[in-house]
Amino acid sequence: MDVIALEALPDGVPAEAEAMIEGSAQSLLLVRQGQQVRGWLNVCPHAGRRLDWAPGKFLLTRTGALVCAAHGATFELQDGQCLSGPCRGQCLQAVALQVRDGQVVLG
Ligand code: FES
Repeated sequence: MDVIALEALPDGVPAEAEAMIEGSAQSLLLVRQGQQVRGWLNVCPHAGRRLDWAPGKFLLTRTGALVCAAHGATFELQDGQCLSGPCRGQCLQAVALQVRDGQVVLG
């Protein structure tokens, strides 16, 4: 199932898209690096809130870690691990993605 066109994602900047997962619409956090895209549910492991402060608007530290807009937990964007804050050591829930024919797809 298509999530978004690869070209719609800026390189290296967190973005948001929705996808149907197990029958329900889920917001995803996506990070493109060249032809690769990593993705996680846009849900913080601390209190289950969205990570963005407005749809698709993510806060970053000066070193590029993502900051949860709710209570400030920080996450690195390689494997989604929480670096600091109330859920330190936990991870974002990864979503398996592939790029096929210019489209980011689930799987
Ligand atoms: S919900 Fe993200 S730090 Fe609390």
